[in-house]
Amino acid sequence: MSDVRVETHGSTEDVTEALRADVREGLSATRKWLPSKWFYDARGSELFERITALPEYYPTRAEREILRVRSGAVAAATGAHTLVELGSGSSEKTRSLLDALRGNGTLSRFVPMDVSASALTEAADAVSRDYPDLSVHGVVGDFTASLAALPGSRPRLVAFLGGTIGNFPPDERAKFLASVRDVLTDGEWFLLGTDIVKDPATLVRAYDDAAGVTAEFNRNVLHVLNARLGADFDPGLFAHVAHWDADNEWIEMRLRARADTTVRIPGAGLEVSFAAGEEIRTEVSAKFREEGVRAELAGAGFALRHFWTDSGRRFAVSLAEAVS
Ligand code: AVJ
Repeated sequence: MSDVRVETHGSTEDVTEALRADVREGLSATRKWLPSKWFYDARGSELFERITALPEYYPTRAEREILRVRSGAVAAATGAHTLVELGSGSSEKTRSLLDALRGNGTLSRFVPMDVSASALTEAADAVSRDYPDLSVHGVVGDFTASLAALPGSRPRLVAFLGGTIGNFPPDERAKFLASVRDVLTDGEWFLLGTDIVKDPATLVRAYDDAAGVTAEFNRNVLHVLNARLGADFDPGLFAHVAHWDADNEWIEMRLRARADTTVRIPGAGLEVSFAAGEEIRTEVSAKFREEGVRAELAGAGFALRHFWTDSGRRFAVSLAEAVS
């Protein structure tokens, strides 16, 4: 049996406290909002896995195509000994990378990090079963807070795939990139997946699928508040909205109250009233252009070495080197 362990950064109480603080801030704001990371309990992670298989949701397939074609180049360029995957989820796409790095003969350790304990444990076990020579060291936690001590021998390759960087507001994006750069030494590597700006109809369809899976995923944040904070949201009272913001070049997901309603959230000491039509912003998902990616990486101390797209130019994977 191979070497697999999963450690947890932050206790359940810490997580509930963080949720409570976010809910107090977001739901007492004039324009209500909730951070998108709270979608991902076990049910939310499952719903997201279903989204990735939807005909309208192209990013996962497009990124998988890029990784299939380019993982060899990633392995050759980086010679990585450690692969760290932030927000790894099911680690499904990571397998092309693991295969290529293993083929290279350099890889010794895989460090998946995710906020979802269930998704992470399953992924760590599955990878460790299929790659018996690999040491797998999973970290459950908010990776924006857990980056400080990155285990594994150098050079390390940190992968942040799926386009999740687009879920950070721009100022947090810069902070996040700087914190990744901060834990790396010159000559180490960062692999970043970003969705690409394209026609709005395609984008909106990807976030408002015909089967309603994304709508259910969106409403899952209300289930999470009910479960963790004893809230009494009726999720069916909130309609799913996917809106393309052309100025910011991002998709916004919102939940729109279908009627006037008041919700009690005892775990946050809150009572929140919604007027019919009032919305909660639950996610931004920014879309990128090559020059923007290059500039944001450069601003954090990374030199963009490759910008690869799928054959349909829908999605991009960037390989960047930490430089001083
Ligand atoms: C995996 C977080 C990048 O923003 O496209 C999918 C999440 N939200 N459908 C994305 C998501 C709605 C997804 N990320």
